[in-house]
Amino acid sequence: MKIDPWSSTTYQDYARLRDEFGIQEFTEELWKDLPNPHRLLRRGVIFGHRGFQIIHDSIKTKKPWAILTGLMPSGRMHLGHKMVIDEVVYYQSTGADVNIAIADIEAFATRGHTLKEAKKFALTEYLPNYIALGLKPEKCRVYFQSMQQDVKDLAYILGKKVNWSQMQATYGFNGMSNMAHVFSPLIQTGDILHVQLEKYGGGRPTLVPVGVDQDPHIRLSRDIVQAHRLYNVTVTKDNRIGVFVKTNKNVSELLDNAEKILQDLSFKKLNRITSYKAIYILDAEEEDISHIDEALIKTETKFGGYGFFQPSATFHRFMTGLTGEKMSSSKPETAIFLTDTPEEATKKIMNSKTGGGVTLAEQKKHGGKPDECVVYELFLYHLIEDDKELQEIYNSCRAGEKTCGECKKYAIELMKELLLDLKRKRESMKDTRIQRYLEK
Ligand code: TRP
Ligand code: SF4
Repeated sequence: MKIDPWSSTTYQDYARLRDEFGIQEFTEELWKDLPNPHRLLRRGVIFGHRGFQIIHDSIKTKKPWAILTGLMPSGRMHLGHKMVIDEVVYYQSTGADVNIAIADIEAFATRGHTLKEAKKFALTEYLPNYIALGLKPEKCRVYFQSMQQDVKDLAYILGKKVNWSQMQATYGFNGMSNMAHVFSPLIQTGDILHVQLEKYGGGRPTLVPVGVDQDPHIRLSRDIVQAHRLYNVTVTKDNRIGVFVKTNKNVSELLDNAEKILQDLSFKKLNRITSYKAIYILDAEEEDISHIDEALIKTETKFGGYGFFQPSATFHRFMTGLTGEKMSSSKPETAIFLTDTPEEATKKIMNSKTGGGVTLAEQKKHGGKPDECVVYELFLYHLIEDDKELQEIYNSCRAGEKTCGECKKYAIELMKELLLDLKRKRESMKDTRIQRYLEK
């Protein structure tokens, strides 16, 4: 299996994806005690993560953390895109610094749009929808990749620790791949990591909420951070906890610094072996590692390091298209766009693929299959907030007590409200309002 961010395949078996790529399961402990957990978190739509624990802990302890995500401004925004913004809006309410990349460079490199077209999509379609979906201007920055010099610089500089074999293995690039495309993952790494530069708030936990197709970029960004670290805190083969200096420059200063940090953290049994570039912490446990590492990361900037935390990520499932294939802007019948009229949406829902039986009699007898039903998916992802109500629909579908006609009618009604609400909010928007979100 390969995850390709630019292909149009859908993924069915999310558990297998998790196992194969070492993505962690997004378990209840990670969201249960967050303030008003969002429905996408509660309902298993977000099915996996990398390094979410530190985000959870930052929310709980009210420490600074950042969100960075991005969307390609190509074509119209649909319900699949809405999910990411719904997540961002939720995390913004818990105190995150929000950063959103308008991936115009990527849209240019991979979708063949000019930067000018991408800009137009962003300003007339994406931003008004972000705002209508509830994004607040406070602690929020939306920027264009093509206009963000720090992102582009970082992309170039970080490229030093990535080689061609790694890019080929991760993305399947080959001799025919064009260089703009080859470079775009580094731009995305620049997006993800630049929010930890001093100018944008400094080193701190950063969450990247994305669809699972973006995992290769997450792995690349996490690997790059590791490659640039000056310290490594780990359990040794003989089961000791050690801090190791990874570079050959300033070794004794780095060890002095680590020693001081460890003492401040009240570790007492330190065994420093300068020739190994190591300090063994005899009174530390494995659970202390992340804590120690965090304290060390922050000091790396003093020695010419970046002081970047490894970015965390959550992965959400894709929405199935209304027709049963992938939801895609290029096939309007598969997607409900945020600017669709209620009539257009009605037609798409009427024609959608449900999990109902072949005949009504059969459905009454054997029940329907909500897990294979796109109308149910609309309820689950977007239309029904109350978990109890959703559960009742699920149960009565399974029991054969519901007809797909009834469900569709209800979905149409709720979708109409949603679309009209967004429309009203978009229309009340002035250009000055949009400007407040854009990086100057
Ligand atoms: N590659 C993403 C997409 O295909 C867009 C994107 C650009 C992004 N930069 C990002 C996503 C940074 C998350 C983080 O839509
Ligand atoms: Fe889907 Fe409703 Fe039909 Fe069940 S009854 S398959 S939930 S549309």
